[in-house]
Amino acid sequence: MLLKITLFCVFGVMKCVFLVVSSFGRPNKVVSLSQRKTQRPSGSPGLHIDYYAKFSPSPLSMKQFLDFGSTNACEKTSFAFLRQELPVRLSSSLKEINLLPDQLIMTQSVQLVHSWFVQSLLDILEFQDMSPDDPKVLAEFVDTLVSIRNRHNDVVPTMAQGVVEYRDAFGADPVTCQNIQYFLDRFYMNRISIRMLINQHTLIFDGSTHPGHPSSIGCIDSCCDVTNVIRDAYECAKMLCEQYYLGSPELELREINAKNKSQPIEISYVPSHLYHMVFELFKNAMRATIENHETSSTLPPIKVMVALGGEDLSVKICDRGGGVPFRKIDRLFSYMYSTAPRPTIGDHQRTPMAGFGYGLPISRLYARYFQGDLQLYPMEGYGTDAVIQLKALSTDSVEKLPVFNQTALRHYKFNQEADDWCVPSKEPLNLAAYKAAK
Ligand SMILES: Nc1ncnc2c1ncn2[C@@H]1O[C@H](COP(=O)(O)OP(=O)(O)OP(=O)(O)O)[C@@H](O)[C@H]1O
Ligand SMILES: *[C@@H]1O[C@H](CO)[C@@H](O)[C@H](O)[C@H]1NC(C)=O
Ligand SMILES: *[C@@H]1O[C@H](CO)[C@@H](O)[C@H](O)[C@H]1NC(C)=O
Ligand SMILES: [Mg+2]
Repeated sequence: MLLKITLFCVFGVMKCVFLVVSSFGRPNKVVSLSQRKTQRPSGSPGLHIDYYAKFSPSPLSMKQFLDFGSTNACEKTSFAFLRQELPVRLSSSLKEINLLPDQLIMTQSVQLVHSWFVQSLLDILEFQDMSPDDPKVLAEFVDTLVSIRNRHNDVVPTMAQGVVEYRDAFGADPVTCQNIQYFLDRFYMNRISIRMLINQHTLIFDGSTHPGHPSSIGCIDSCCDVTNVIRDAYECAKMLCEQYYLGSPELELREINAKNKSQPIEISYVPSHLYHMVFELFKNAMRATIENHETSSTLPPIKVMVALGGEDLSVKICDRGGGVPFRKIDRLFSYMYSTAPRPTIGDHQRTPMAGFGYGLPISRLYARYFQGDLQLYPMEGYGTDAVIQLKALSTDSVEKLPVFNQTALRHYKFNQEADDWCVPSKEPLNLAAYKAAK
């Protein structure tokens, strides 16, 4: 009895996970448990996809992720949660792929990605009727998750390839562009979340003890030293930059911990996500700085400011790379735009300094994943400020997940509507006509 109570307290979080599991997630359509159990189809993948896509995903908070990995971590709970939650998230992406333009769905690349998702869904469904009490089942589940993660390694470049093929063959009108942008943001966000769930489970329950950082739980660091991660990312971007341009701007870093002036800035976060974002911003800032100062002998430094308040952690990265015109700001976050020459797929020999134009949009997804954001404030002719906002409190950091329902559907179907603002015309209005009428 005592054990039971402790379990319940330690897993204040698990409580809700238990709820989620026992009530089979939160279906959009309310159906009673017994009904739903018998409803789970046994036939073709399509039926499974329809079934799981009816549930809304259950977003986890940073605190819940951490509790899964605390000393009393319960692998059975995690297993029971994932075998329900992963099919829900996979199915919602599969459903949404079907809303893309037909010619895009028919590209080899998109078909390939689709087949990976279906296979992974089927792999997890194998576990639906297995007992969590069997250690063999749990071990097999970890292996299955690892193979799913590997299968999905190349989803982003493969999907990108499909979009390029489609755009080259059929062009892209603004409505299609907007739909593809909307889709990819949601699709890649879902992918980040699926990988997060898989990484946490496999890292925590793969049977080995991790001598690593004591504050790390899976890929989350409960005391993530923000400035350390920023310095690491800068050093790596600097190395890359020097290979390409034989020079690199210096780093000037300032930090303000408003909570405790004498303490380093630490938050609960996924260091690899933070690293990804600042690394991308540094690469962009360095490239712009160098290309904007080709003729001068000195390079202005990249200035970084980190601030921790009661609610927010903010990182501002300022370069003097000449900025970009305000008109083009939407394009910077577009999956269909980059100013750098396109690298070839499969060229794993060296990391390009700039490539698919996915640096900014994907970094923004990482920031948004835990309810933060990433914004760019260019001043054309001078430079750019890039700002990352993250939640400082682990209770505020909750997964931001796309939901596949009528609202999403409407987005694809009905944004063909005409604009409700005037289009500025290139030709100035000929006011002579009005004069004559007078
Ligand atoms: N700090 C900056 N100053 C000036 N232009 C910038 C800056 N950051 C981004 N840009 C512009 O925005 C474009 C998109 O940036 P993004 O990082 O998304 O893609 P990329 O750098 O071209 O390729 P990659 O996917 O390798 O990052 C860049 O090509 C560049 O023209
Ligand atoms: C700030 O940090 C110092 C050193 O660890 C500690 O002694 C002090 O109590 C902290 N102050 C606050 C307000 O948390
Ligand atoms: C879709 O899901 C979101 C989030 O759960 C909700 O706010 C919205 O009302 C839903 N739309 C429909 C049509 O059910
Ligand atoms: Mg870039």
